[in-house]
Amino acid sequence: MKTLSSFNFKGKRVLVRIDLNSEVVNGKVLLNQRFKAHAETIKYLKNKKAKVVLLAHQGRPGAKDFTTLKQHAKLLSKFVRVKFVDILGKKSRDEIENLKNGEVLLLDNVRRLKDEFKGNSNNKFVKVLSKYFDYYVNDSFSVSHRKQSSMVGFPKVLKSCMGKTMEKEINALKKLKIKNALYILGGAKPKDNIKLLNNKRRILSCGLFGQLCSIALGINFGAQNKFLKNKLKIVKKNKLKNVEVPNDFAVKVNGRREELRVEEFPSKYEIFDIGEDTIKNYVDEIKKAKVIFLKGVPGDYVNNNFSKGTKEILKAVGRNKGFSVIGGGSSSDAVSKFKIKGINHISLSGGALIDYVVGKKLPGIEALK
Ligand code: 3PG
Repeated sequence: MKTLSSFNFKGKRVLVRIDLNSEVVNGKVLLNQRFKAHAETIKYLKNKKAKVVLLAHQGRPGAKDFTTLKQHAKLLSKFVRVKFVDILGKKSRDEIENLKNGEVLLLDNVRRLKDEFKGNSNNKFVKVLSKYFDYYVNDSFSVSHRKQSSMVGFPKVLKSCMGKTMEKEINALKKLKIKNALYILGGAKPKDNIKLLNNKRRILSCGLFGQLCSIALGINFGAQNKFLKNKLKIVKKNKLKNVEVPNDFAVKVNGRREELRVEEFPSKYEIFDIGEDTIKNYVDEIKKAKVIFLKGVPGDYVNNNFSKGTKEILKAVGRNKGFSVIGGGSSSDAVSKFKIKGINHISLSGGALIDYVVGKKLPGIEALK
């Protein structure tokens, strides 16, 4: 696959797909490691005197965290100055045309366009936008499992290569020997984790995923079952032979942490972390593992009352002497928040990483080949 060094970008217009998808709390977009990583690719292109236009997304249409990228532009500007414009209006086309060498423009959330979901080059979005560009750079390994137009459409019609973040990720993952690994799967995107359930992998479940595994085994949490209502059936009991589920949880009672053993549910309180006993059991297993793959955090680590599970599990992974890889946007943020040392590779990807680990072809990467 071609890299940035394959082309001379001087004075050329370059369209760059990055991944700024972030956690949004009470309308505020939280800074994460992806911003700094992509800034390296952008700075490289700036130094080569390219005219850079960035494509990125936030959330999925209809979801709470589906927002404009205005705040993202500000956050990215902490590392490299970018200007923000709407996507595909006359104003943005004028801005693109008038870009000077070394300038950078971030277009608004690409998922506002229906054409993004067509996943090909034969649509207005790709046809109109590609006319303005000489090159396409894909820097978002973390979105490469999505067959969406900004990932697979442009490489069909423009000379293309991967950016620095994508290159780094691919080189690290090539070294990953994932067979016989201990998997720690949590986070808020349980559908991604389900792909790893095959009764052979040894899995410690936590986060929303762990709760859904528990529910599949017959546990009724009460309020938490209601919270998970649309997802209740996505984990199947017959896939859980080698999966450990938490035996206690922390619930939120008037903002405070209280712990309940599994036998004490149903409860009217929602779950925000795994409990002390589960933490201890999981840490013991982590100590013995030779290879560890962790994706998704055990609890709501942004809230100090519920960060204990995430912090202790990540510390244990860091202390482990084997080879460890962690993935998922929130996992890498938690590593930086708690200053965890000793993890071998911190992936900036979630779902894409899972597809890679289970051996699937990633459309975004195939399109660059
Ligand atoms: C991610 O955060 O994992 C990527 O940005 C992909 O987001 P998606 O799961 O909404 O496609």
